[in-house]
Amino acid sequence: MSTNVIGKQATRIDGRTKVTGAARYAADFNQPNQLYAVIVSATVGLGRITTIAEAEVERMPGVVAVLSHQNAPKLQYRPHKGVIDPAVGERLHVLQDDAVRFYGQPVAVIVADSIDNAERAAAAVQVTYEATRPMVDHADPSVERIAPEASDKSRGDAESAIANSPVKVDEHYEIARENHNPMEPHATIAEWNGDRLTLWSKSQYLVNEQAEIAAVFGLPVENVEVICPFIGGAFGTSLRTWPHVTLAALAARHVERPVKLVLTRKQMFFTTGHRPRSLQRVALGATAEGKLTGILHQGTGETSRYEQFTEALTTVTDYLYSCPNVRTEYRLAKLDTSTPNHMRGPGEASGIFALESAMDELSYRLGIDPIELRRRNEPKIDEAENKPFSSRSLIQCYEVGAKHFGWDKRKPEPRSMRDGRLLIGSGTASATYPAFQAPASARVRLLADGIAEIEAAASDMGPGTYTSMSQVAAEFLGLPLEKVRFKLGRSKYPQTPSHGGSWTMASVGSAIRAACLEVQAQAKSRAIEQIKSPLFGASAEDLEWIGGRLVRRGASSELSYQDIVSRTGVPIEAEGSAKRDPEIAERYSMHSFGAVFAEVAVDPDVGTIRVRRIVGAYAIGRVVNPLLASSQCTGGMIGGIGMALMERTVLDRRDGRPVNAHMADYLMPVNLDIPKLEAHFVDEIDPHVNPLGVKGLGEIALVGTAPAIANAVFHATGKRVRTLPIQIENVLTA
Ligand code: MOS
Repeated sequence: MSTNVIGKQATRIDGRTKVTGAARYAADFNQPNQLYAVIVSATVGLGRITTIAEAEVERMPGVVAVLSHQNAPKLQYRPHKGVIDPAVGERLHVLQDDAVRFYGQPVAVIVADSIDNAERAAAAVQVTYEATRPMVDHADPSVERIAPEASDKSRGDAESAIANSPVKVDEHYEIARENHNPMEPHATIAEWNGDRLTLWSKSQYLVNEQAEIAAVFGLPVENVEVICPFIGGAFGTSLRTWPHVTLAALAARHVERPVKLVLTRKQMFFTTGHRPRSLQRVALGATAEGKLTGILHQGTGETSRYEQFTEALTTVTDYLYSCPNVRTEYRLAKLDTSTPNHMRGPGEASGIFALESAMDELSYRLGIDPIELRRRNEPKIDEAENKPFSSRSLIQCYEVGAKHFGWDKRKPEPRSMRDGRLLIGSGTASATYPAFQAPASARVRLLADGIAEIEAAASDMGPGTYTSMSQVAAEFLGLPLEKVRFKLGRSKYPQTPSHGGSWTMASVGSAIRAACLEVQAQAKSRAIEQIKSPLFGASAEDLEWIGGRLVRRGASSELSYQDIVSRTGVPIEAEGSAKRDPEIAERYSMHSFGAVFAEVAVDPDVGTIRVRRIVGAYAIGRVVNPLLASSQCTGGMIGGIGMALMERTVLDRRDGRPVNAHMADYLMPVNLDIPKLEAHFVDEIDPHVNPLGVKGLGEIALVGTAPAIANAVFHATGKRVRTLPIQIENVLTA
């Protein structure tokens, strides 16, 4: 496929709208006559509510209503499953009983005439509890552990292969709980019109939010509309519809006025998902030549007591390297916390930290360069699935990355490189993420003014979906980018999957392509059928589209879309759908790959670690927009720096309270922490993955960054740190 618009740099179509403040985010859609809701969050970690003093706060200035389990109507909570990895179990039913299942659970909602009055009343509500100690420590031996279905995978005999290997690594790894902490807080404005509900709500999955809230209130799905044209960062936290959306709708119904509910930063640590803390063990066995003989990867994640959340913690180990004996096991610790959720590069980013740290350790034990070690264990096929990769360019990624990074200037011995008094180290690690595609639809409308309007119920949480999808439409319609208007952010548009899992381009992009091809076919028919058309009566085979113009072979007559549409003034409209061909899915293993290189400087006296630069090389199939793709990657690297060195949600074991639930103590990279970041894309043609040839981008940019940094810290200091985030004391103590 040769392309004109796909593959070209384009700045964000919505950039001006955003930087001028014209873009409207969920909380910006203020409605006439609107009231304000504030959630009262439980201050115990487990137990029951004994009293809520509603009457006192009802008399406070501006308070219109106080809702709690004592007066909230019963909600239907019909079964609904829609999220990427449907949670097993039952979602939290809000204000339906006196039980407190985790610290921060909503126990009441105040509705008032201003945000200030609502906050004041929420702070004044007296709630008493009968509380017991929650189980929030994943490492506690008494924690209940379960094996999710199909969580283990095995080939050969990993244990005995490792035991009989001349070279071994066997270590434990831990990654702290993290919270997504996007700039934009979760927010919902709810308005009822009879039994129809409109939600202006921050969501990465509009049609799921629509279906979820319809199920909660027992409404037909079409009675709910969700609107979300812009998202100020999400990273997975808005993939699900959390309790505050229900509470906004419930409050609005109760007071019979539109209600706006915005979560506080603190509340975003309670009920909107988190990257679960993980505990892992990786054991490797290898020959003296560095050929892997056995891999054992055991990982435990977390879930809540009322739902089962799973992520792909150990799956990368199944296919990343060639090895005859591999066993991976995944367990879940059931905790008295809210349900975790996917957070950028979900399980893969956590799992690969353990695997790639162990591979790095193995390289030192063998005295083999880490890249050479990967080369010696490069598989020909996906050995877990026993099928070929649709494409795999991991080694090319290492080559491209190493060249840009200057890996050849690195001295292999740890603690051998200095810059003044600083210890300098560099490390590398592999990245990988599945190339998913889910069923999606889109609509194209050719208008009389020459504009092509595209609609899909997609979201744009920041990667540039508005722009990249417009490029796809421009490409397949043969139009310049400025003639395309892509509309997203409404649940009434054609259905798309969640805006997550790096599958938006593969899924929605493929649907747009299908819709464009369909609308072209219709435009062609109309041109042939219109009596006054210069192409009237032409045979379809003689006509072809060249750059948005319908041309008759061997003749001078041609028509643009605008010519065809304006003749009657009636737009030409078509819907297109796409999904992955099941036969192809059966035949190939489809994944993106990458290689990440990091350089760090460590102060040997005080233990501070600075990342000096990161170079990532990625093979993601076709790159739709190199500028946006590069931004995605540097953003992911920044997330990786956070994971490696800063981010950690600390829970108080007595009551499950996140003790650092604010930006001052939940550390995240800021501008000063961010060095030079470089993303490179390896030329990769994947003829199988989908007609666009795109494998998806997003998650993989975070995957592999933390182990590259940890491996660089080892190279700089000679200290192997197997817990994230790496802290000063880890580097200072032996
Ligand atoms: Mo991303 S965790 O797929 O929103």
